[in-house]
Amino acid sequence: MADANGNKEAKDYGLDVPVKKEAFFLKGLDHVDWGIKDRMGRIFNKKSGNTVMLAFDHGYIMGPTSGLERIDLGIVPLIDYADCIMCTRGVLRSCVPPQVNKPVSLRFSAGTTVLNDLNDECILDIEEAIRLNASALAIMVSVGGKYEAKTIDNLVRTADMGAKYGIPTLGVTAVGKELTRDSRYLSMASRVCAENGATFVKTYYCEEGFEKVTAACPVPIVIAGGKKVPELDALTIAYRAIQQGAAGVDMGRNVFQADAPVAMLKAVRGVVHDELKPEEAFELYNELKSA
Ligand code: 5RP
Repeated sequence: MADANGNKEAKDYGLDVPVKKEAFFLKGLDHVDWGIKDRMGRIFNKKSGNTVMLAFDHGYIMGPTSGLERIDLGIVPLIDYADCIMCTRGVLRSCVPPQVNKPVSLRFSAGTTVLNDLNDECILDIEEAIRLNASALAIMVSVGGKYEAKTIDNLVRTADMGAKYGIPTLGVTAVGKELTRDSRYLSMASRVCAENGATFVKTYYCEEGFEKVTAACPVPIVIAGGKKVPELDALTIAYRAIQQGAAGVDMGRNVFQADAPVAMLKAVRGVVHDELKPEEAFELYNELKSA
């Protein structure tokens, strides 16, 4: 019993120093487990409270879309400037060097492609996500769509498995041809994701009433960029979304299809983390583009 003999007596109990009680820095997540907080703390910047995620999972439903033909050439050089990457396991293993050491939001549901009815999806195996050291499990949820029940069931099962292993679940609100992207729909879809266990939610920005979408969602919201628009417009969308309560972006096409993708990603960071106005970020984009 070497330790029992000659031990220095413990005396530094800090009796006059109360234990600090700190709220977690992201909304709605005070009561989740340590592993989930640790992973969310790697995805989100603690200073700004926001994140710039780079999405390049489009190939799982679209095939080789513009900008994603060669992930090694088009995407890998961007990864350094993102806080988190969102992709499928196939692209992660085949094209993303593990030494980039970025949190991964793993595309965790898969099924039909754009050649068919979207959202008829199954989910991956949780062991696969653990093997890949995923920091989040991204699940498509089609509220109001043909596969509503199936995709909500996928979300529920993913959130249960994620909670078991301390991995956050990202509920991704799908937009079907028949569904409108207005605040009424987006707030319902986002809320349904949160109510069913999503740790954070990815949805679209809408011009009217987006602040109601973020206000009514009890967990952080990140926005998708949507179809490619001119760079200033994309920066304006990101700016307005942040001003109206989003905790970041999970952008794809508006970054990797930009004329200068690295410059665009840096400009988006300016908006999301440094409170740059869209015009200031666009100026930065042009400066970096011509440097
Ligand atoms: C598709 C996705 C995409 O990752 C998402 O749409 C982000 O990309 P973009 O900014 O190009 O819309 O979740 O289900």
